Amino acid sequence: MIARAGPAHADALAAIHAAAFPPCERWGADAMALQLALPGVFALLDPRGGLVMARVAADEAEILTLAVHPHCQRQGIARALLAEAGATAAAHGAVAMFLEVALRNTAARALYAAAGFAEVGRRRRYYADGDDAMVMRLGLTPSP
Ligand SMILES: CC(C)(COP(=O)(O)OP(=O)(O)OC[C@H]1O[C@@H](n2cnc3c(N)ncnc32)[C@H](O)[C@@H]1OP(=O)(O)O)[C@@H](O)C(=O)NCCC(=O)NCCS
Repeated sequence: MIARAGPAHADALAAIHAAAFPPCERWGADAMALQLALPGVFALLDPRGGLVMARVAADEAEILTLAVHPHCQRQGIARALLAEAGATAAAHGAVAMFLEVALRNTAARALYAAAGFAEVGRRRRYYADGDDAMVMRLGLTPSP
């Protein structure tokens, strides 16, 4: 059900992002397409209403954004997208995956902790509203 998304899916990705994030944090279709054109960037789409975008550079991967439509949250969609993103990144040579999450984002922090991510640092006043970012890391299982 989860599939790779390309520039042709930019509108669908943006629609999910807009439903999940407040206006000031939304990525439009143009931003999605621009990101997808960058080296090492890939996106995965769950047609029920979920997306993850990540970048692989050398042996490290980074989650760029993750969103699930409010109508289908708490159904395991983000958990599955994260697992698939990790497998995809590992297949491209990544041995670890990093992300940044706002301290106030308790839902995402719970998701990442449950997925095995551990805190490895903080970025003070990283977000526009003054909130700190927590930097988290997950070791990836190498592809066979
Ligand atoms: C964070 C987000 C992606 C989670 O998506 P989701 O599909 O609802 O998450 P899942 O159903 O896969 O949840 C997996 C686990 O994460 C944790 N979790 C997810 N949402 C949670 C919430 N609102 N409160 C507490 N724990 C939560 C739970 O441990 C959950 O397992 P459980 O349902 O068996 O208890 C979604 O809430 C979202 O899009 N939020 C807005 C955008 C955002 O914050 N993105 C992340 C930016 S870093």
